[in-house]
Amino acid sequence: MSLENRVRDHFTAEFGESPAFIVRAPGRVNLIGEHTDYNDGFVFPMAINRATWIALRPRDDKRVLAISLDMDDQRQFSLDDLRKPADLDWIDYLSGVAWSLLERGYELRGWEGVVAGDVPIGAGLSSSAALELATARAFFEVSDFEWDAAAMALACQAAENHWLGVNCGIMDQMISAAGVEDRALLIDCRNLETYTAPLPADTSVVILDTGTRRGLVDSAYNERRKQCEAAARHFGVSALRDVDKSSFAERAHELDELRRRRARHVVSENERTLRARDAMRSGEPAALGKLMIESHVSLRDDFEVSSPALDAIVECANAEEACYGARMTGAGFGGCAVALARADGADAFAERVSAAYLAATGNQPTLYITRASRGAETVYP
Ligand code: GLA
Repeated sequence: MSLENRVRDHFTAEFGESPAFIVRAPGRVNLIGEHTDYNDGFVFPMAINRATWIALRPRDDKRVLAISLDMDDQRQFSLDDLRKPADLDWIDYLSGVAWSLLERGYELRGWEGVVAGDVPIGAGLSSSAALELATARAFFEVSDFEWDAAAMALACQAAENHWLGVNCGIMDQMISAAGVEDRALLIDCRNLETYTAPLPADTSVVILDTGTRRGLVDSAYNERRKQCEAAARHFGVSALRDVDKSSFAERAHELDELRRRRARHVVSENERTLRARDAMRSGEPAALGKLMIESHVSLRDDFEVSSPALDAIVECANAEEACYGARMTGAGFGGCAVALARADGADAFAERVSAAYLAATGNQPTLYITRASRGAETVYP
């Protein structure tokens, strides 16, 4: 049964009538532009065909009551009495979005509903952003404010940063808010302008989940952010976005070795991401694939956010003739890689990479052929 029907049926069984609205917001995979968003740079993600869904109806009071089918749990909170969580729980994603919208002056009404999703949790496909944007969309439907994708993404990012305590950039929330069907989205993370690009003809995007999850991602992530900020200060700019390849080459020797490598990744990744736009515009999958391969090498060697499992699955993918290029995607240290493959060979590609990776590492991977979906939206009524 589709998730849309699941949340609808559960809602009807629980509340005795059809939902007033059904909303959804997708997870994402990033094609290229990694660890660039918090450097005011460029990212090139697409929203995937996996999402969080909420069936809901408004309430007359200021309460939010949510039933999670995935957690088999029911929780509620009052918009008049929001409490910052000590230990994170799924409902905190909803209360965090409420807190952030209220902080920004939105007037919110309460609602009740049923939540379910199929973005795997902790895999690096932004299940949190999907839940946050679906929540924002639920508030939008029952309250009285305008939907602005960038404003909603910023509000959800602030919930992550200040309510949930995760110091993420804007990419995940922005693509979940603003994704476009059959298109990848180049996002300028300084001003949140977006440019859409169709994937090259006859290609498939394949997500390669290594099956590994790593702790300590947050501390390593924060450490990378600090190293980038320090490098930007050294160049006398507000963010590494403002350092181009030639000014980097001129002054790179002034940086210590670690910061030099971190900055080199960001500077080169921004350039690769813009070149990826050109490759997509002119429909050149081989050029795009080559940029993805270079991105992985830079993330592995200069930024040091890959892992043996990610390196292994990327290597298995790149060894396949049907593959234009593969790289780790998202924050790194575990989770998923992404590959651009020939569409007519994608199923066989997925099978062969699964077998090769299992043989090489003993881990069972999960591979999904995915397509670009729309960002947060209301699907019913
Ligand atoms: C995580 C963060 C994003 C981004 C990526 C790395 O997904 O949530 O903001 O920084 O890592 O590109």
